[in-house]
Amino acid sequence: MGVMNRPSDDIGRGASSVRHTARARRAAQTLVDEVREGLARQPLRELPCKYFYDDRGSALFDEITRLPEYYPTRTEEALLAAHAGAIVAAVAPRELVELGSGAGRKVRFFLDAMRGRGRLERVQMLEISEGWLRASVEALQADYPEATIEGVVGDFVHDLEALGRGGERLMLFLAGTLGNLHPEAVPGFFRQAAAILEPGDGFLVGVDLVKDPARLHAAYNDAAGVTAQFNLNLLTVLNAQLGADFDLVGFEHVAFYDADAQWIEMRLRARRAMHVRLPGAGVELDLAAGEEIRTELSCKYTRESFERRVAGSGLRLESWFTDAESLFASALLRRE
Ligand SMILES: C[S@@+](CC[C@H](N)C(=O)[O-])C[C@H]1O[C@@H](n2cnc3c(N)ncnc32)[C@H](O)[C@@H]1O
Repeated sequence: MGVMNRPSDDIGRGASSVRHTARARRAAQTLVDEVREGLARQPLRELPCKYFYDDRGSALFDEITRLPEYYPTRTEEALLAAHAGAIVAAVAPRELVELGSGAGRKVRFFLDAMRGRGRLERVQMLEISEGWLRASVEALQADYPEATIEGVVGDFVHDLEALGRGGERLMLFLAGTLGNLHPEAVPGFFRQAAAILEPGDGFLVGVDLVKDPARLHAAYNDAAGVTAQFNLNLLTVLNAQLGADFDLVGFEHVAFYDADAQWIEMRLRARRAMHVRLPGAGVELDLAAGEEIRTELSCKYTRESFERRVAGSGLRLESWFTDAESLFASALLRRE
């Protein structure tokens, strides 16, 4: 299997074992296409949230995870500390895969449990942010030398098949990152995930739950303003990568909960009318004063609404772990 399943291998670049998917090799063109398409949308312009995560964006996200208002990371880590052992015992994986692996810390709960069972063979981390991926692959390889640790620079929406077919595989999609997908895209995402898993394989999904809107509002409007910096960083990325001239002080961070849609929206609002050039994308933009650009959706789920999105994908919900306040859930799906 192995090599045949990895058409875009370039293992061996540098010290760590990191390869790029075919799409990641075309990242510059993909950025141009997605930015052009998103900024042309009406009535609301949009930018894809995956472009938050250059090195600075990843560092800002890491800072967010430690903010007092940001309950998801603490809550999920407590769930993983309590249940990773039982999840590993149930799935009995030899391979661990993480989608959107970020700093690569939570995966250690599972690697320790797999090591304890003497079944830790291979790890694949799929991540769009190459700098953080390389650093986390190197750190994991040093601490788990008995396993083959591979980083894959790619997009979990488009590139899952670059991970090859599963079999004795446990796949992780943590932090409520699922919420960044539009709910209508989620069933298709689960079908693609099922396609790289074999019957009995596990898929653990972090699910941020519907809750008191005030709690949600606080989590995305922190007092220290780190989420605002994170949001604005998207414009810094476009300035750097597309030679754009977004004036950051001309924009303010907006985040609000839409109770009907059950999602948080992050937007950037123009404080004044502006003409913006993005020469790298061949775009010129006239923004009206007060005009907003949507930068992120973060959908919240109930167990019922989550199960509705899983239905028919080839995955079924086996276990639902949640905290005493029902803030966050870890959902263990199994490939049928
Ligand atoms: C909310 S963070 C979660 C990080 C980590 N899994 C955790 O639990 O703390 C989302 C991560 O997914 C990555 N990411 C976002 N969109 C992505 C995409 N479309 N494909 C691959 N990675 C993506 C980001 O770079 C970031 O590291």
